[in-house]
Amino acid sequence: MYLTKEEESIYNGEKGPTLQKMMEIIVALGDIYGADRLIPVKSAQIAGVSYKTIGDAGLEWIQGLEGKAAVPAALNPMGMDRDSWEEMGIDRRFAEKQEEIVRAYERLGIKAECTCTPYYLERPRFGDHIAWSESSAVCYANSVLGARTNREGGPSALAAALTGKTANYGLHIRENRYPTVTVRVKERIRGAEYGALGYVVGPKVGDGIPIFDLKGTPTDDELKHLGAALAASGSVALFHVLHVTPEQYILPPDRMEVERQELASEDDWEVPKRYFLPRNRIEVKAEDVKKLMGGNGEPDLIALGCPHASEEELKEILAALNGRRVKKETWVCVGRSLGAKSQGLVDGLRAHGVRVIYDTCMVVSPAASRFRRMMVNSGKALKYVPSMCGVDAILGTTEECIEEACR
Ligand code: F3S
Repeated sequence: MYLTKEEESIYNGEKGPTLQKMMEIIVALGDIYGADRLIPVKSAQIAGVSYKTIGDAGLEWIQGLEGKAAVPAALNPMGMDRDSWEEMGIDRRFAEKQEEIVRAYERLGIKAECTCTPYYLERPRFGDHIAWSESSAVCYANSVLGARTNREGGPSALAAALTGKTANYGLHIRENRYPTVTVRVKERIRGAEYGALGYVVGPKVGDGIPIFDLKGTPTDDELKHLGAALAASGSVALFHVLHVTPEQYILPPDRMEVERQELASEDDWEVPKRYFLPRNRIEVKAEDVKKLMGGNGEPDLIALGCPHASEEELKEILAALNGRRVKKETWVCVGRSLGAKSQGLVDGLRAHGVRVIYDTCMVVSPAASRFRRMMVNSGKALKYVPSMCGVDAILGTTEECIEEACR
């Protein structure tokens, strides 16, 4: 892999041991994946923040690093809300360790904004190279915004933050962003059903790049839930949606004409010219999606905001409450900056008894494990809550979740 003189001097340790270590991580990954060079990134988002996941070994590693972030960098959700950890039932030792982790990152110039929706802080632009970690954020940035990022691990995202570089491989390269499988859903689906669709399709496509042929036009939030669940139940880091996402036209120029002609003469699949619909196809029936909705047993926690809620979603929850106070424990997880920007909505939700939680979520915080059954409106949470919190999960629409909360 080609390195500039400056990159080489960092690699050789001339700019100190931390940057050397960071450069070694980037170069090692670049070598494994056949990168030709390093490229600058516009931002980084770093996983490996919750004390629940990184423990003392991770904390010591971060504390041993020196330097300052070269690009804007934020963190993934941690294990607790920094303001209300006691009310969440987090014990003091965990809270102290968690604070130490955040301070160690802050010392490196990384913003203590712990969110899986960093695109609400600053939206990457089409074609921007970034180095993000959290799987749903990666999927959203690549698919909905047309930015370019691989699914970074915590250390490699931190390396990108401190050096401002990443290795040029994988989804940074246009040729690797073509769809590999066509997914067709004939009937219209809505809201939380997009999360259920991702849950169903993820295992079928693995780490492929699906292009969806859908009825109707999904909203940004519906796309967010689709991507989050695709990434959780499969390893999808990029998807396209016909007539919707910015790279829907992406296709290899040499294959364009051939594919179009072959597909056009084959069967009743509509093949609009300029799109590339891979011959490898999956058809999903709305009933397969809808049967994931609902479930048996009464939930004792209603948890919304996975991925962290948007302003639109906060409005939707407030409207569904329709003046009623919740009777069951109800959480809405939100990024701290978005919450501050939408203070009126946050206050409105709190006035109805809803716990608005910053910095963390129902999956990464140990606080959720004291419940028996959680009702969520997210396909990703449906996938992770049982395995990571040891709690049963039921999927419902936002309205159904709020009805249950008020019952
Ligand atoms: Fe975000 Fe936690 Fe869901 S990190 S995507 S709210 S599991």
